[in-house]
Amino acid sequence: MFWPVVLLAAAAAVVAFLLLLFYVVSTMVSPKPLSLSGAHVVITGGSSGIGKGIAIECFKKGAFITLLARDENRLLEAKREIEQYSVNDKQVVHIASVDVSKDYANVVKVIKQAQEKLGPVDMLVNCAGTSVNGKFEELDTSKFEQLMAVNYLGTVYPTHAVVPTMKERRMGRIVFVSSQAGQVGLFGYSAYSATKFALRGLAEALQMEVKPYNIYITVAYPPDTDTPGFAEESKTKLLETQLISESSTVCQPDHVARIIVKDAIQGKANSSVGPDGRMLTILACGISPVTSVAEALEVVMSIGVCRLLSLYYLSSFDSIVRRCMLQKEKSQKAD
Ligand SMILES: NC(=O)c1ccc[n+]([C@@H]2O[C@H](COP(=O)([O-])OP(=O)(O)OC[C@H]3O[C@@H](n4cnc5c(N)ncnc54)[C@H](OP(=O)(O)O)[C@@H]3O)[C@@H](O)[C@H]2O)c1
Repeated sequence: MFWPVVLLAAAAAVVAFLLLLFYVVSTMVSPKPLSLSGAHVVITGGSSGIGKGIAIECFKKGAFITLLARDENRLLEAKREIEQYSVNDKQVVHIASVDVSKDYANVVKVIKQAQEKLGPVDMLVNCAGTSVNGKFEELDTSKFEQLMAVNYLGTVYPTHAVVPTMKERRMGRIVFVSSQAGQVGLFGYSAYSATKFALRGLAEALQMEVKPYNIYITVAYPPDTDTPGFAEESKTKLLETQLISESSTVCQPDHVARIIVKDAIQGKANSSVGPDGRMLTILACGISPVTSVAEALEVVMSIGVCRLLSLYYLSSFDSIVRRCMLQKEKSQKAD
């Protein structure tokens, strides 16, 4: 009596799974890859680190580039460096100094000028960003405001400026550069993580609006990457954050950039680097958009194992935090 019921339930589960899979496959639209040859790519934060790497990667593929950042000298230096990678003599690197976190009208003006020069924007990469590391109560509340302005509003403004034209043209790619700290909250990143998690919510809501217009949004979740911004942040990194970060290696910006550009061209919803990054993306998938059946199946099959692994990491991170706290208390008593 017991076994027939179990077998029947198992068969029903398999049929339900196959029906669901069939439904998902029939509704899934895989975007056509975007050709970057002759395309106009705008990159905020394109004068340094990951953003500059992305600019070089796009330029190597024949794109016309606009770099947006504040410091004019760094913009000029980056322009000269990127121009060395041209694949034809028509390619142009246009630069414009702008603070993407302030004055929306000015951001619109600068992007309009870039479009007049190089044509409508085919791909926008929002890479301008900054970070701060510190304990929640020790961070001045102005830091929370500053980070939200640059990392979140600094993505909203340029995106808001390009979406109408992309909708008219029924094509486009938009990249939000988040962080692995936008998938998991870690010690010392209360201000930073919140801004990077916010990008995910923005991306998902906006993706649902613009998908019928053939516009695809990629959220990139880079790991620690050897850039000027990372070097600056590392100068004041808390011991707990340093020890937790040691569980993963530091990547090179050109490697991270190559992966982001490849995923954006394909219109993937998420872009991650390495096995750690893949695991985090699987764990944090929620109801995020999928653009391929293989990707959907990978998540369905591996999410349980990934969760198990994450429990190991979580407990080792907790024990680092506890050890540091006990050591500090001990040395305070000794003083
Ligand atoms: N490096 C990492 O380990 C890492 C890991 C995960 C995620 N990320 C994210 O990746 C992105 C790039 O990081 P990175 O390490 O390559 O940084 P970076 O080397 O410090 O470069 C940051 C770029 O953003 C520009 N920028 C900063 N604030 C701006 C503003 N208000 N308006 C316009 N441009 C602005 C900078 O130029 P100006 O200062 O001249 O404006 C520069 O071009 C950031 O969003 C960061 O959060 C980095």
